[in-house]
Amino acid sequence: MNILLLGSGGREHAFAWKIIQSPECSRLYVAPGNAGTAEIAQNVPLSITDFPGIQQFVLDQAIDIVIVGPEEPLVKGLVDYLQAQPDTATLPIVGPSQLGATLEGSKDFSKRFMQRHGVPTAAYETFTADQIEAGLAYLEKQSLPIVLKADGLAAGKGVLICQTLDEAKTSLKEMLLDAKFGDASSKVVVEEFLTGIELSVFVATDGKSYKILPEAKDYKRIGEGDTGLNTGGMGAVSPVIFADEAFIKKVEDRIVKPTIAGLEIDNIDYKGFLFIGLMNKDGEPSVIEYNVRMGDPETEAVLPRIQSDFLGLLKGIATGTLSEYELKISPEYATTVVMVSGGYPGSYEKGFPISLPETVENAVIFHAGTAKDPAGDIVNQGGRVIAVTGFGKELGEAVTNAFAAVEKISWEKAYYRRDIGQDILKLNN
Ligand code: AMP
Ligand code: GLY
Repeated sequence: MNILLLGSGGREHAFAWKIIQSPECSRLYVAPGNAGTAEIAQNVPLSITDFPGIQQFVLDQAIDIVIVGPEEPLVKGLVDYLQAQPDTATLPIVGPSQLGATLEGSKDFSKRFMQRHGVPTAAYETFTADQIEAGLAYLEKQSLPIVLKADGLAAGKGVLICQTLDEAKTSLKEMLLDAKFGDASSKVVVEEFLTGIELSVFVATDGKSYKILPEAKDYKRIGEGDTGLNTGGMGAVSPVIFADEAFIKKVEDRIVKPTIAGLEIDNIDYKGFLFIGLMNKDGEPSVIEYNVRMGDPETEAVLPRIQSDFLGLLKGIATGTLSEYELKISPEYATTVVMVSGGYPGSYEKGFPISLPETVENAVIFHAGTAKDPAGDIVNQGGRVIAVTGFGKELGEAVTNAFAAVEKISWEKAYYRRDIGQDILKLNN
């Protein structure tokens, strides 16, 4: 198969690493890719939102399947675009239609979807600018803290957890009346604050059938002990010890099944991954959010645990034959540590050469924001630069293996959290 993978993060390097292990992979192109994908596949200088360019590339290179990593092209309608052209109307694609992608692109849409299909989630109301008075009155009646969410995509910044009524009222006004998050906050979801422990469950679906992939927990804050600013994700572990079989069964029965059924009932064409962000409160799951793609860095911990042919899974998703696919998961633990540019998530310097080891033990190195400079050095190019996944029979061993590999990697001002996995190890003791 000739394969086109869209994206350039650690998630896409992990996808590429897994795809090339498949006997069915002939050629793998990654657009635009990074220095890591360049070593194992062919990078293509195509923007992920250049829909005509992508379509032309598919035709020129006789691409058999397109795999979309990030949400942006999905929310902008790439799948519908390709399906609307006769030449690519039946092209297998991993990624939902624009309507399906609205589950991530609009929080109000996804809350209404959950409510309609009986999926457990926090109580909420949605407000627009002309409903500001009703919104402020609603806030008065809620308990604190209270969660305000910009309806649209806001680069992970659109969620505010307000501790006081004053703060909530000010924020609601800023979001609705002053376009604090631009167009994304022209609608605001006001939502009950959920307590408990967060984790994510990943589902592959062809819209009818589904497979539950390994769950993961990520570490969102920049600082150790979950402090400081939010990031794209500083680490991940899989499996998650506190999500036992009984919990995952509840997630399947109460969340995955009604969600997949809901897609069919609503006539939403969905062939792709669904990332379900969950709160576990005393063993009871409720949905915080849907994302219409795999997580990053969760993918770097989840994918290595898939033992069955990954390209087969992708084909099953894209061609509607997922029910025939047998998913095999390794029981081993994976821990991913993300190394970032110093200063991230604020401003940071780029272009420092990265020193990488020849080999690592019981670990694998994925590139994220890396590039080759004109001198041929691999340099840091983005905020999140390298994701290292360590493996082990126990979580502690996976953590040790991940950090042993991290210590062999360096560049000027590199930073990483040293406490990835520690909270779970403590829970376990
Ligand atoms: P989101 O952008 O929807 O992923 O939200 C970002 C983060 O805000 C989540 O990962 C949670 O940690 C937190 N969060 C979102 N909604 C809630 C909620 N209803 N209760 C508690 N925390 C929340
Ligand atoms: N790690 C969270 C995300 O991919 O959205």
